[in-house]
Amino acid sequence: MTIILDGKKSAHLIIENIKKKTANLKEKPGLAVILANNNPASRIYVGTKEKKAKEVGFNSYVYKFDENTGNEQIIELIKKLNEDSKVQGILVQLPLFSHLSESKIIESIDPKKDVDGFHPINVGKLNLGLDFCPIPCTPKGIIRLLKDYQISLEGKNAVVIGRSNIVGKPMAALLLKESATVTIAHSKTKDLPIITKKADIIISATGIPHLIKENFVQTGAIVVDVGIIKNKEGKIIGDVDFSEVSKKASYITPTPGGVGPMTIASLLDNTLELYLRSLE
Ligand code: GUN
Repeated sequence: MTIILDGKKSAHLIIENIKKKTANLKEKPGLAVILANNNPASRIYVGTKEKKAKEVGFNSYVYKFDENTGNEQIIELIKKLNEDSKVQGILVQLPLFSHLSESKIIESIDPKKDVDGFHPINVGKLNLGLDFCPIPCTPKGIIRLLKDYQISLEGKNAVVIGRSNIVGKPMAALLLKESATVTIAHSKTKDLPIITKKADIIISATGIPHLIKENFVQTGAIVVDVGIIKNKEGKIIGDVDFSEVSKKASYITPTPGGVGPMTIASLLDNTLELYLRSLE
């Protein structure tokens, strides 16, 4: 029997819990989101983040920049937000316009307000297993979803496909922390199906529609699909060919309704956590 990892349901529970905790706070947590890109998908993501932040009772501040913006203007805004006591979480939606410097902009965020966990200090803390750091939202949401279904990762052979700073690398770090044996595959990996066929758990984050077919997966594997792609018919599909792979998997995320809602829930959770830490 295949079990669907219902991200919508898990995220709903997390969000209800955040709402309850927020209702008891003296002041509202504040989340600032910066968008410097014309990518239609990024605009939708930012709109969803704003809507969900308001829904749980946070203050949401969205800053949109056009293509004439330079690094300095964005860094200037971030410096102001770093000092703003109404803001506890700062998120720079990626990717940025190609002329902008992702590293300079991310590094200007106060690590204590880095709600994505993308600042090098937080990346370092995560990889060293040091004290608290905000954990990148998509990998955090995936670990939470697996735990909600009592899936143990200890000793599991995990294959992450994709080596981005947003998903692949932090995902590998978190899986390692859970004592999985981790392989990171990517666009230059040879014989990908041979590697994925040995996996107990596959986490695919490539953005390549239906890359993962039935022949990539061993019977009983756990399959997590991070891809969100609009196909020619305007339908949202993932990296995983769900109709084929779900016949072999023990657990599988649907797309939509799997990883996406967990990413948003993790963002809200990180914002609340940074808010609570700012009071300490
Ligand atoms: N672009 C795609 N996913 C993410 C994310 O989790 N955070 C940010 N900042 N940008 C993204």
